[in-house]
Amino acid sequence: MRPSDQEAPAMRAVTMPVTSPGQLPLSKQLKAGTRRDHDSVDTLVMQSRPFDSLERYGCFLRLQHRFHGSIGALYDDTELNRLLPGLSELPRFDAVCADITDLGLPLPPTPSAIAPTSIYAALGWLYCSEGSNLGAAFLFKHTRQIGMSAEKGARHLAAHPDGRGLHWHQFVALLDGLALSESQCEEAVSGAVAAFDCYREALRDVFPAT
Ligand code: HEM
Repeated sequence: MRPSDQEAPAMRAVTMPVTSPGQLPLSKQLKAGTRRDHDSVDTLVMQSRPFDSLERYGCFLRLQHRFHGSIGALYDDTELNRLLPGLSELPRFDAVCADITDLGLPLPPTPSAIAPTSIYAALGWLYCSEGSNLGAAFLFKHTRQIGMSAEKGARHLAAHPDGRGLHWHQFVALLDGLALSESQCEEAVSGAVAAFDCYREALRDVFPAT
């Protein structure tokens, strides 16, 4: 269930960036450290032509199911929710499942949970997942050509009623407010790279070779 403004003030908390002199904010390190991974995933997704047919879109939903299902437990993790208050309100796995059901497809078995190497690596996995909401705006537009909408088949790509940017900016502010050492930031970047790797691997498994 989406939180109302009153129910979820935590993600609205504004946190001041905490970094050592000369150290980029964590979100900037994550972005710089995964730019190439992002671009390759972006290209692979478009090359797989997920919006050419309902059949191919079904493959895309199975990919999203695999990725979001494997990280679901991170959103409920107590320690991660302490670091990122409001985190438990953000997962999109249930919406992905509803989209699959909308298409009349059977739900795949829930994927096994990933095990990040540390709590800091887990932050990187979450960065990858939450950031993917931004590109989802572009993907959401394409789903119209195959008759999908925020009410049917493309729920997990739809913007939050508060707007797509708001939760992302709050999430980034929380990440940048964490007082992490340089090596902890490096672990977070490695976690984000691992998340993109996982997505790429799932994409290759799920889409039939063309
Ligand atoms: C065709 C597929 C995709 C397209 C066209 C796309 C496009 C974009 C765009 C345009 C942004 C920047 C938005 C902005 O700065 O306002 C963005 C950000 C981002 N996307 Fe994607 N994306 C795609 C797939 C993905 C996937 C599959 C993932 C993760 C599994 C992902 C993760 C991210 C992340 C983490 C960011 C945040 C970057 C930052 O730190 O600013 N994207 N994407």
